[in-house]
Amino acid sequence: MRLEVFDTAEAAAAAAAARLAACLGARPSAVLGLATGATMEPVYAALRRRLREERLSLAQATSFNIDEYLGLGADDPQSYRATMNRLLFDDVDLPAARAHLPDGLAEDPEAEARRYEAAIAAAGGLDLQLLGLGRNGHVGFNEPGSPADSRTRVVALSAATREANARHFPAGAAVPSHAITLGIATLMEARALLMVVTGAAKRAPLARLLEGPPAPDCPASLLAGHPDFTVLADRAAAG
Ligand code: GLP
Repeated sequence: MRLEVFDTAEAAAAAAAARLAACLGARPSAVLGLATGATMEPVYAALRRRLREERLSLAQATSFNIDEYLGLGADDPQSYRATMNRLLFDDVDLPAARAHLPDGLAEDPEAEARRYEAAIAAAGGLDLQLLGLGRNGHVGFNEPGSPADSRTRVVALSAATREANARHFPAGAAVPSHAITLGIATLMEARALLMVVTGAAKRAPLARLLEGPPAPDCPASLLAGHPDFTVLADRAAAG
């Protein structure tokens, strides 16, 4: 695991965008693993700028988001599909048919999870997976207790995560209780992992990730043995 610390969250986001752009520059047909969360907003803003400035295209690329709430569809502004449309997809030339997220409205969510895992494999696997870090050490929606051998599946969200994410929902609206997330074993198969960690609220989970030991109480720490894992942090998170 390699840690890079930046003075500001914007600088960490710019570095993440640079890495994504470099991946696309080297391989225009790259398969990108994407993520949502407040941390990713400046990352996608910087990426949109970079793609414009460097005239890079996503026309041959493919993306798979790491997670989606169950019960929310594209029409729901809080779904990760709608969020990705707003933050990135509406503004870039990534073909809609290759911008994948789990279907939060699938009739059989377990089958949808299996389909999604198979679709990633069929696309040749993830070249670069972008990751955020939950305040309780979750990654995607792999909550504490998630096993190292977990695959894409339906998960119940912890009270802590639902509380942390309530800020993205209108006042009084319930945060969904379940989600589909890529598993830890699925993430370990990505060829490279790029985690962005910003803000003082992430200091404790980042310290736990960096100091170890890898254990399911901090799911992100289970990724520590990945051979190509970069963490981009700001000073507020790195301490
Ligand atoms: C959310 C998402 C994660 C994200 C994390 C951090 O629950 N499911 O994919 O990385 O929490 O979010 P934020 O960047 O808003 O702190």
